Amino acid sequence: MSAKQKCAERIYLKDYKPADYRIPAIELELDLDREKTRVRSRLTVDRAGDHNRPLVLHGEKLDLVSIKVNGQALDPQHYQRDDTTLTLFLGEPQTTLEIETEINPAANSELNGLYASADTLCTQCEPEGFRRITYFLDRPDNLSVYRVSLRALKAEYPVLLANGNQVEAGEDGRYHYAVWEDPHPKPSYLFAVVAGPLEFIEDHFRTASGRKVALRIYARARDIPQCDFALGALRDSMIWDEKVYGCEYDLDQYNIVAVEDFNMGAMENKGLNVFNTRYVLAQPATATDQDYRSVRDVIGHEYLHNWSGNRVTLRDWFQLSLKEGFTVFREQQFSADHDSAGVKRIEDANLVRTQQFREDAGPMAHPVRPDSFVEINNFYTLTVYIKGAEVVRMLSLLVGSEGFLKGCRHYFAQHDGEAVTTDHFLGAIETACDVDLTQFRHWYEQPGTPQLQVSGSFDPTTGQYRLRMGQDNPDASGERQPPLQIPIVVALFDIEGNPVETELQTKGPKQHEHTLVLTDAVQEFVFTGLTSRPIPSLLRGFSAPVMVQTELAGRDLAVLAGHDNDPFCRWDAGQTLARQEILRWLNDSSVDVLDANFSESFGKTLTADLPDLAFQALALTLPEENDLGEFADEIDPEGIHQARWSVMQALAGRYQDHLLERYHALQANGPYQRDVADAARRALRNTCLAYLMVLESEDVSRLALKQLITADNMTDALAALVPLANQARPVRDEALAFFEQRWGEYPLVMDKWFRAQAVSRCEDTLSRIRTLTQHAYYHQENPNKIRALIGAFAHANPLHFHAPDASGYQFVTEQLLATDPKNPQVAARLASAFNLWKRYEPGRRAQMRDALKQISDAPKLSRDVGEIVERALADT
Ligand code: PHE
Ligand code: ZN
Repeated sequence: MSAKQKCAERIYLKDYKPADYRIPAIELELDLDREKTRVRSRLTVDRAGDHNRPLVLHGEKLDLVSIKVNGQALDPQHYQRDDTTLTLFLGEPQTTLEIETEINPAANSELNGLYASADTLCTQCEPEGFRRITYFLDRPDNLSVYRVSLRALKAEYPVLLANGNQVEAGEDGRYHYAVWEDPHPKPSYLFAVVAGPLEFIEDHFRTASGRKVALRIYARARDIPQCDFALGALRDSMIWDEKVYGCEYDLDQYNIVAVEDFNMGAMENKGLNVFNTRYVLAQPATATDQDYRSVRDVIGHEYLHNWSGNRVTLRDWFQLSLKEGFTVFREQQFSADHDSAGVKRIEDANLVRTQQFREDAGPMAHPVRPDSFVEINNFYTLTVYIKGAEVVRMLSLLVGSEGFLKGCRHYFAQHDGEAVTTDHFLGAIETACDVDLTQFRHWYEQPGTPQLQVSGSFDPTTGQYRLRMGQDNPDASGERQPPLQIPIVVALFDIEGNPVETELQTKGPKQHEHTLVLTDAVQEFVFTGLTSRPIPSLLRGFSAPVMVQTELAGRDLAVLAGHDNDPFCRWDAGQTLARQEILRWLNDSSVDVLDANFSESFGKTLTADLPDLAFQALALTLPEENDLGEFADEIDPEGIHQARWSVMQALAGRYQDHLLERYHALQANGPYQRDVADAARRALRNTCLAYLMVLESEDVSRLALKQLITADNMTDALAALVPLANQARPVRDEALAFFEQRWGEYPLVMDKWFRAQAVSRCEDTLSRIRTLTQHAYYHQENPNKIRALIGAFAHANPLHFHAPDASGYQFVTEQLLATDPKNPQVAARLASAFNLWKRYEPGRRAQMRDALKQISDAPKLSRDVGEIVERALADT
């Protein structure tokens, strides 16, 4: 480990202090140029309280040109400068500070601050990018009003955008300028500017109180035909937030800019969102049904931030989930109102249970509100985002959706224009709903996934059914933590799968579904009035982010898998059956016949005529290899792959005729339609194809190739390409060549092409990936490309990433170390592929540890990667 990493500073929540100064207003002038952008800032600085401490501004990678205090040039002895700060000794309680700096956007490969993407200059400031533009109090509790003047060559940068409303524009020879004002005080992380040769599409929206808002999406000319869907989604989210939360938009303009180079999904900058093209562009020929849903959800997410994040913002970065967890929850509600709500819930729950639980069980485990970090960029995590959303969802369940909305409105009203903490949010709910959330607060403070043990017993003489529930809350080191308040939604079924209505604790009313609230380490709930042994359906709707251990037998699970009226529980019962079956094949090499109960249950699901075909598709899909690993004592990636593949093959063999029949019956009887029902039909049909493809027959491969070539939409094309890329036969290259030829001009579609090859099970996968890193369409500086090829390999191809000769680890290590100096954030995401090294069988464990050591020994490792690998290596 390099000396620098060792002493990288750790920042603690308990050390939070308000700043010594405030900057209520800032005027910025940017003379934009690719290599040499001149930034002039004029700050109004107020001393907070009575003290004589200096003003310490943040600043990184800035060339300082000049500083003036109250109009006077400042002598060098009145300030100090190092790599990250500018310290000023100010005499007066109020000063005007003018600072001139120079930056080089073209050299900014971190994509943090002002950078170039193609011919466009754009910014990314969250969390700490503004300090790479100018010296400032770059912390979220400093709220300022911004006035921004942009000046650039007309021909190169015809569009000049910043936050707020444009108030002035004009020309000056070959140059032009635009002045933007944002009347809403905001933290610097929400600052944005964009300049470039962009085109736009436009719509108008009238808010409930009558404000007319111009909505625009800006993109490169070639991408403009793909922007309509996103613009419609923006309008939908504005309508939705007014209708559900009573939240209105507050500027005359709402601009979204799509750029190809972006570290994350999108950014909610006030009035000027910057998006990864991936979450804007969508057309049937290039975007899958899943892509359309992601575009709608991310557009919704960023829009919804206007209240949950922007109008009410964060006091410090430890509060990140206050905006992210809450906004993800709001996004999920928005999404469920525009789609199959059952499927949406299953997908979200599945993500929490697989990915977030995994994070929480590894070296990066942290509370929803972390209490320390080295690099804040490493804390844009599943825990902060989606566990945070689950915590908000539980809150809404506990106080009721009406009460929750009342609480939210109270929170927005009370803290509008403030920078607050998760405690303020909970406090607002407490006040509005008159509840005590003292115990609930632990959800924000404790890491780890609660484990519930549930056992039921039925007494035929009294007709009583007792559910005993115990909760365990170990942290990473196995240490016990206090019990949590956990809402568990439960219903009972008879053994035929009919819903049973019961009384809970003999206190009516008689009903099918009950919300049990767990508060103690062990509790018992009694249901009365039963005539036979019931089957419990637990954690309905995934009512809490917990693991549940039950004693449910295979037969009971099959009943739930066939009859439960809660989509999540029905799906979950089927997944449990499938997992048990795969683990049986894994643990006993002599097994080669499917378990009859499981096989029958699968057959029923396949041949049923369910109202929601998208649900049916999910119910037929086996758990992922990575998720199965969680249930093995020591992970053997090859064994898991083989076991899962064998079960799939056995199912496909057993139901070949049914699968083929359904595949043909589900063919579209007209041109492509993008609605929910048609997307569901495609999902089920393509699930059938995926099963048929594991039979590895020439016939089925030809069928898939035909689907690829004749598809009038990307969903069907990609659903054919992915399994074709798994076939070690000439048809694979035929398919890949066709796809490349047909969609080579579309970078986002080529990402799918790279990914399909990165996750292939074919033996030559790694050598092909190596070749692909030299492909003309692959760009080592583009995060989407790195994620599509290297990220997918590391995170979604366990078979080859964990190749027994360590070649997968070596490759990812190499790529990571090549990426780190250019883009530490993207490199850090790759590093997390090694996080669970301790869980693997001894051979891999040693090799993964070696890879981590090799990374940590590299000279000049970034703080981002340093923190990840250091935590992984320290994991005991
Ligand atoms: N705040 C963004 C969101 O909406 C995510 C993001 C974080 C984007 C950091 C860029 C940098 O979730
Ligand atoms: Zn967000």
